[in-house]
Amino acid sequence: LSVSATEAPHYPMARQSPLEPPPAILRLLDEQPTSRVTLYSGQEAWLVTRYQDVRTLLTDPNVSADVRRPGYPAVSAALAHFTEGLLNHMDSPEHDRYRRMLVPKFMVKRMEQLRPEIQQTVDGLVDDMLAGPRPADLAAALALPVPGQAAGALLGVPAEDRARFGKRAEDCLSGSMEIAQPASLELHRYLEGLVAARQAEPRDDLISHLAVEFVGTGAITAEDLVTQARLMLVAGFDTTANMITLGLITLLQHPDQLALLRDDLSLVPGAVEELLRYLTVTHRGRHRVATADIELSGQLIRAGEGVIAAQDAANRDPAMFEHPNELDIRRANARHHLAFGFGPHQCLGAALARIELQVAFETLLRRVPTIRLALPLEEIRFKHDAAVYGVYELPVTW
Ligand code: HEM
Repeated sequence: LSVSATEAPHYPMARQSPLEPPPAILRLLDEQPTSRVTLYSGQEAWLVTRYQDVRTLLTDPNVSADVRRPGYPAVSAALAHFTEGLLNHMDSPEHDRYRRMLVPKFMVKRMEQLRPEIQQTVDGLVDDMLAGPRPADLAAALALPVPGQAAGALLGVPAEDRARFGKRAEDCLSGSMEIAQPASLELHRYLEGLVAARQAEPRDDLISHLAVEFVGTGAITAEDLVTQARLMLVAGFDTTANMITLGLITLLQHPDQLALLRDDLSLVPGAVEELLRYLTVTHRGRHRVATADIELSGQLIRAGEGVIAAQDAANRDPAMFEHPNELDIRRANARHHLAFGFGPHQCLGAALARIELQVAFETLLRRVPTIRLALPLEEIRFKHDAAVYGVYELPVTW
């Protein structure tokens, strides 16, 4: 077979500017919002870029998130072995059963109870950074420790174990198998021990609640609980960490917006929503396979075909967000962004992530108002090839 002149473009597409989605995906949003793309394996899939179409697709009962189904659009070779038994790759009715158990535990009101502890953590990290040498690496000093500590607080990991626990979560996401595999195993063993300890002597934490209500009654096994707890840690880890570093870079690139925010810190929650929209750190989209024929804005997607819902493009859809490529921390509808996904798999940890980000930005801007990059933007190394977009390190000074 000769290579056809109309071969579908490759996905993921390349960025040209580090804080902007790839120009090619924005062009598709404008010209051909549901189109064919070619994945690394040579497999083709549909790419859906419009805001409304992404929402329709992600709530359609005729799509599956199960990576084992033929046609599932894997966007890199690295994904498959992290997914066994995980909530985010389950379908209804199994998925509904887990969500019913977990959703009440992740409500805003419950997460707000963790805010004082998260504030204390962030204050301690900022104290250490201010006492240390300049420049400092904001990733290591703040962005990476915060989600590990917050997940530790949520799950009920004892304070003295949280730093090591967080470090293992970081290692799990390493590109190197020699680092990732033992870290993943150690984390699994640690959580097994924690579940067993809380089953024997429950406390007021998530692991205890789930162990008593669901493992104790036979609804799930202790092993299931360990698997989902590991997901909560890992899913919230580099997403949140990279939002902190990229969010700060973005604010520093928009001095007018930064000044507004510094002058009125009550704008922080809105700014967090706008940064989530603007950056869409889960930049590889949501991956599904159609289980029946679907029609999206007149385009037929057949049963068995892979579909990628591109949240990064959808979050820049002018039909939904006015002047979508401008950062506007006072944008009225920013919180309708799709950075946390949409539909049955919408991020379980969104309320917790929002608190972590609000506390991190509010504290940084209040306590380190002169913070700035210690390197020109061009010298910062961005994670172009990672599943979650971000930076490797972020040297800052003040
Ligand atoms: C800024 C930070 C975060 C971002 C951008 C983010 C993004 C997402 C997205 C896009 C999904 C949807 C996956 C899909 O549809 O395929 C998701 C699911 C999920 N997230 Fe988050 N997340 C963040 C933080 C967190 C935190 C802190 C936690 C845990 C406490 C968490 C736990 C989860 C879980 C368990 C799922 C799977 C839900 C399901 O499939 O039913 N996330 N997240």
